[in-house]
Amino acid sequence: MAPALQITLVALIFLLLKPTCCSSSNILVVPVDGSHWVNMKVILQELHSRGHNITVLRSSKSWYIPSTSTFYTAVNVSMLEDESDKNFYSKMLQDVFECRNLLTFIRTLRQQHLLMKKLARGNKIMARAAALMLDDPVFIKKMQDVHFDLMLTDPALNLGVLLGSYLKLPMVYNVRWINVGEGHFSIAPSPVSYVPVPGSELNDNMGFQDRIKNMLHYLYNAVTLHFIINPYYSDLLQRHFPPGTDLLSLQQRADIWLIRTDFVFEFPRPTMPNVVYIGGFQAQRAKHLPTELEDFMQSSGDHGVVVMSLGTFVHGLPRDTTEAIAAAFAELPQKVVWRFTGERPSSLGNNTLLVDWMPQNDLLGHPKTRAFVAHGGTNGMYEAIYHGVPVLGLPLLFDQFDNVERLKVRGAARMLEAGFLKKENFLEALKDVLSNPSYRRNIQLLSQLHRNRPMSPMDTAIFWIEYVIRNKGAAHLQSVGSTLPWYIYYSLDVALVLMTIIVAFMWTAVFTCRLICCRRFSRKMKEE
Ligand SMILES: *[C@@H]1O[C@H](CO)[C@@H](O)[C@H](O)[C@H]1NC(C)=O
Ligand SMILES: *[C@@H]1O[C@H](CO)[C@@H](O)[C@H](O)[C@H]1NC(C)=O
Ligand SMILES: *[C@@H]1O[C@H](CO)[C@@H](O)[C@H](O)[C@H]1NC(C)=O
Repeated sequence: MAPALQITLVALIFLLLKPTCCSSSNILVVPVDGSHWVNMKVILQELHSRGHNITVLRSSKSWYIPSTSTFYTAVNVSMLEDESDKNFYSKMLQDVFECRNLLTFIRTLRQQHLLMKKLARGNKIMARAAALMLDDPVFIKKMQDVHFDLMLTDPALNLGVLLGSYLKLPMVYNVRWINVGEGHFSIAPSPVSYVPVPGSELNDNMGFQDRIKNMLHYLYNAVTLHFIINPYYSDLLQRHFPPGTDLLSLQQRADIWLIRTDFVFEFPRPTMPNVVYIGGFQAQRAKHLPTELEDFMQSSGDHGVVVMSLGTFVHGLPRDTTEAIAAAFAELPQKVVWRFTGERPSSLGNNTLLVDWMPQNDLLGHPKTRAFVAHGGTNGMYEAIYHGVPVLGLPLLFDQFDNVERLKVRGAARMLEAGFLKKENFLEALKDVLSNPSYRRNIQLLSQLHRNRPMSPMDTAIFWIEYVIRNKGAAHLQSVGSTLPWYIYYSLDVALVLMTIIVAFMWTAVFTCRLICCRRFSRKMKEE
């Protein structure tokens, strides 16, 4: 074949194979370290496989975000000094255990207060980091020179929001948490009469007392946001953004909100045109287990296996709690795979396998798996839904109480307080989840609903990210609601004018009536 023809053919094949859309766009990613990175990573891998060039900003001291990777280029930023320590979660767990002794009504507020203190501190650090970043002309020039097409960020910390807005990049969020709560509360109307505020441990069926509690949570969050968190950013916003810019208005200008939620899990609530739901995007078909683990699963016979994991970050369960759990497991006819780091419990039965890491998704998708004992982290909950495995929840921190509550009200989970866990109550709850077929039936129904959709959550996420790149934003999907002052948003000015007119009209009517009546009356009197 002639070389020219060869080249033409190669070029033709290349053109045919090349995806039609925005291949090789430059995407700037500002992730959140820790467990949130897991959520970002899978999306980045997918974006990379579609030919995009990905740049990740990471703290040079990051624990979880590697500085070299096959699917992204890392940029170290020294401003992001990681001040938190690895014992953070264990310390917080002790505080939360103390809270759990209080009355239900008070404890959720007290717990929220603990969380807010951490959030406020995190925001203070973040505001300082963002200010250093925007003040650094070398760094900003470097970012501008790459000509990024998109900012993809997790707005749980505001660094990406500020940098993306400053560089005027189209912006997509991979979000569940923002500011002091769940993403919807920052963008969509959220009537507190039926939308439970995160942290309240309520569901969408609230009695009068519950609604008082929900309102208190709402007000507490609003006050914290406006009077504690926002002020940290005001200096920075004044210096680098047009006058009148506040944090919320920057956040609300994102083009698409990929919210890590699905309504088989979250309670139905109002939403917005630029909100896209990708809950469960990380769950996949189970892959084969390593031989050793597979043999263990098969050795369980018809009884099957219980899988237990309390997440990556918590090592701090009290000793007697782990002993009680181990002793309860030992009495089961099932086998148990327990993700456990720390000192081996003495009461461990020979049916229990301790592992320090597990392929959780593959285990949950295994046909022998009968139940999942979990802390209620979002990823685990969606994996349980995807594979239809009933849950025994031992929530420990943050949103985990709310998450387990969501499965509980659907009849797909039981919940236990980890702080008051005894061998007997743990065994009773676990046996209930294993033997009562309703839990499995209910979660399999959720699984069926969750999977019955036109496009997988991951494909949905990628579609919308590329949509924003192709169209250089999605401004047409943004409602003007977020730009209005609160008294206009709630039509208070209109209500005031209309009320005044009505009152004036009624007053005139009454006055005229009285006048006429009086005249007639006095005329009558005269005639008599
Ligand atoms: C990919 O991104 C890096 C920045 O991380 C940039 O230096 C490089 O030029 C980009 N590659 C392409 C092909 O645009
Ligand atoms: C970024 O930081 C890591 C340590 O976290 C270091 O190993 C790496 O060399 C740094 N990369 C650059 C380009 O400075
Ligand atoms: C496991 O322990 C039970 C009783 O505790 C015992 O009957 C059984 O033989 C043990 N199995 C193995 C394989 O050691």
